[in-house]
Amino acid sequence: MERSIAFVTGATSGLGHAAARILAEEGWREIIVTGRSLARAQQTAAELAAETTTQVFTPLELDLDRPSSVQSALAALVNRGRPLDFLLLNAGMVPGKTRVLTATGVEASQAPLIGHHQLTVGLLHANLLSPDARIVIASAEPARGDVPLFSFTDVAAFATKHYQGDRTAAVEALLRNGPNVKYVPNRTYADAKLIIAWWTAALARRLPSGMAVYAVAPGSAPDTRVARNAGPALKWLMIPLVKLIPGMSQTPETAARRYIRASTFGTDVSGQFFASAPKKLTGPIEAMRHPHLHDRANQEAAWHAVVNVSRVDFSSAAA
Ligand SMILES: NC(=O)c1ccc[n+]([C@@H]2O[C@H](COP(=O)([O-])OP(=O)(O)OC[C@H]3O[C@@H](n4cnc5c(N)ncnc54)[C@H](OP(=O)(O)O)[C@@H]3O)[C@@H](O)[C@H]2O)c1
Repeated sequence: MERSIAFVTGATSGLGHAAARILAEEGWREIIVTGRSLARAQQTAAELAAETTTQVFTPLELDLDRPSSVQSALAALVNRGRPLDFLLLNAGMVPGKTRVLTATGVEASQAPLIGHHQLTVGLLHANLLSPDARIVIASAEPARGDVPLFSFTDVAAFATKHYQGDRTAAVEALLRNGPNVKYVPNRTYADAKLIIAWWTAALARRLPSGMAVYAVAPGSAPDTRVARNAGPALKWLMIPLVKLIPGMSQTPETAARRYIRASTFGTDVSGQFFASAPKKLTGPIEAMRHPHLHDRANQEAAWHAVVNVSRVDFSSAAA
């Protein structure tokens, strides 16, 4: 992969900001940094330029909750006409006590995937990813099911109970947090990050042969703004505890380096989910082998549910 143009979503704070800084230090020629408003993206680009003493940052407005914002960002990229080499789909959030839905009826912590799907498929459609492009999307260790306080929904059982076994309808209900879904913030987050891992596997099967996509858990990095909406148990109990125990947390920079390391992986491991070793939240990343992550029916159900909710299908985009 040529170290030419990188694109980082959610660069206004935390891991996205750290990743953009590292990419500049590693000599990338241009790094497009996004924020929900142009003003925030411009402020971020200016901060990063000052921190790195380089002028390689291009601000772009991108609110993943709003399809019109994704369309405007895509139009700006089409207008530039230069393909991206590294797409870092980092934006995401831990949901709060009160359920939040976007204007299009998507649960707020699931919404970044919908926007990221619209963006990625739009870029593929416009031929704006270089032939050996790498795509990294942020997942998280709760997708494994071995993190205390977080558990994910058994999609097959949920589909059988409420949707006559239709897993696509079941995942769509999780993306929208209804019907038949009780809002439990930690479970919603685990589901969101698991659906990302499944979507990644399904996208890998659809990408042109030289490109690759990986889901990457950045690991525990509590010194970002990720838990700003989290409930008291997570915010005041789990996170302070995690910070006290050696080996349970790492700096945002160390976490961001996981994304960049994954961007150097080959097409042979495209579609896989990389995270800390099982039951760990820090340390080197490895490909996860948990059977539920490799359930092809759930991977395809996740893909089709995201297509339905986003109203963007890769087959039609590629046509
Ligand atoms: N830090 C950790 O311990 C940890 C662990 C596992 C996974 N992760 C994942 O790592 C990623 C980065 O998190 P972080 O720790 O850096 O958190 P952060 O400091 O809160 O940064 C998140 C970034 O994503 C943006 N964002 C969120 N939702 C968005 C949307 N709908 N549209 C556009 N931008 C949106 C935020 O913008 P606004 O400020 O405008 O909302 C912000 O720039 C997330 O996907 C998170 O789930 C983090």
